[in-house]
Formats: sequence, structure tokens, C-alpha cells
Amino acid sequence: MLIARTKKELAAALAEIRSHHRSIGLVPTMGALHSGHASLVAAAREENDAVVASIFVNPLQFEALGDCDDYRNYPRQLDADLSLMEAEGVDVVFAPEVEEMYGPTGVPLLWVRTGAMGERLEGASRPGHFDGVATVVAKLFNLVRPDRAYFGQKDAQQVAVIRRLVADLDFPLDIRAVPIIRAADGLAESSRNQRLSDTDRTAALALPRVLSTLAERAAGNQPLDIEGARAQLRNADGVRLDHLELVDAATLEPLAVSGALDRPALVVAAIHVGAVRLIDNGELIPAGDRDLR
Ligand code: PAF
Repeated sequence: MLIARTKKELAAALAEIRSHHRSIGLVPTMGALHSGHASLVAAAREENDAVVASIFVNPLQFEALGDCDDYRNYPRQLDADLSLMEAEGVDVVFAPEVEEMYGPTGVPLLWVRTGAMGERLEGASRPGHFDGVATVVAKLFNLVRPDRAYFGQKDAQQVAVIRRLVADLDFPLDIRAVPIIRAADGLAESSRNQRLSDTDRTAALALPRVLSTLAERAAGNQPLDIEGARAQLRNADGVRLDHLELVDAATLEPLAVSGALDRPALVVAAIHVGAVRLIDNGELIPAGDRDLR
């Protein structure tokens, strides 16, 4: 596995890879890797001749451009991450410092603007977050020029925003969304889970429980009680609800449903448990639509 810490080293590693591999799959990450990331690499391996992964905790997508505890406390474990990537069969890892990525000021002058799509749901609680994501992802696409790029469906809004980025700015690659990986207790895998105490983790399980109840009701063509689902999370011990919304899977526009769902939709949610903010989502597929898949 080649490790590139600078753009120049990345270019040299890519030239080497391209001399004997045809297609490249890119897996962008912020490190602190877990089984969810391993599933992204596995999907990339399956469809491409070579896999490039990046490890970069991007300050632009955090509050105050990274001048915040969430950025400072974000788990950083480069050696363990490199071992995992090597074991998963990654060919090149790009792990730059902030100045290498954005120059001496650490902040680019020009950004990608995600507009209304980045201001709703997660974006309402984290202003500027999706502009930061879209800006770093656009840079990674330009630096690596992959054929396909892989993102976890757990970040459903991120997937939708990146699909628009590729469509609207004509990046010549395909985006793949890889299904959510859940631990045995049902919690969606996330680097932030490392920061949950045992008590917090038990509290956090209210979220996958509520989502799976909604999925079961949709599958059984039973009426969905979105407000009831919100109330369950508001009343759950140790949980502070940020949002829970029923949305269109592609546009993330809110859906108003009274009664049973008549087409597939997504329910997206975020909660705070202790100092940790967790997101999760679930596909809601009415019985008739599931039979058609
Ligand atoms: O999902 C993430 O880990 C990050 O948002 C990404 C896509 C690597 C951009 O920094």
C-alpha cells in the first residue's frame, strides 16, 4: 500500500497505479475507521481495479471552520487506520495535513455552495457543514480523478448533496451509496460511537428502535405516526432530539403523509446523547413497492 502525505506524492502514486490498473474507486474518509468504512472499501474493491482512500479530518465541515471541540475531539488514529486499510486491500492512502489541502491559511478562498439542499435537516443544525463537505469532496475528485466514489448511506443527506455536486458540476464519475452497517445492538456504525459511555450507548439505541418501527409500519402498509416517533425520542432517557423528518430520498424535500405511505421514502433523524450528536436514517418501503424491487 502506498501512503501519500502530499498532493505531489499522491500524483506519483496515482501515476504508478494507472500504469497497470484501469479503473479507480475512491473512498473518502475522516479516519477513525470502523466496519462501515470497511464495507465502503469492500464495495470499491469489488467494482474497481484499484482503490484509493483518503484520511482527512476536514475542518471546513465543522463549526467555526474547526475552531470547536467537535473538531478537536474528533478521534484521530492514523496508524490503526493505515493498518485497517492495508488489511482491506487499499492500494493508495492520501492523508494530507490541513495546510497541504488548503494552503498556508488552512481555508480556501473559493468554496462549493450547496444552497438550499445543504441548509435543511443536518444543515439547519450545522450551518456551512455541507459547503465544507462539497468543497473537500470536489477537491478529492479533482486530485484522484476516480471512476467511482463510495459513501455510506448513513449520511443520507451527504449522499444526496454529493450526487447533486456530480450532476451539477459535471464530474465524470459514478457515486455509489453503500448500505448502513449496524452493530449487533442496532446502532449504526459511526466514528462518534467511540465517544459514547455504556449508559449513553444504551440511550442512543432509542433511535434505531424508532426507525425500525417506522420501517415495519411502512412495510405493513400501516399508518405512520411521525409526530409519535418524535415524541418517543423526546421522552427517551438521556436523548435530546434534534430532528426526525420524512423526506423524498433523492431531493430530501419533506413529505407530508397522513395515513399509510404510498411510495418509498426516507426517514432521517439526529439526536444528541451526552456531548455526542448521532445521525441515522431508514428506508421506508410500502409492501407493494417492495414486491416490485
Ligand atoms: O463522511 C465523511 O467522512 C466526510 O464527510 C467526507 C465525505 C470524508 C468529507 O470530509
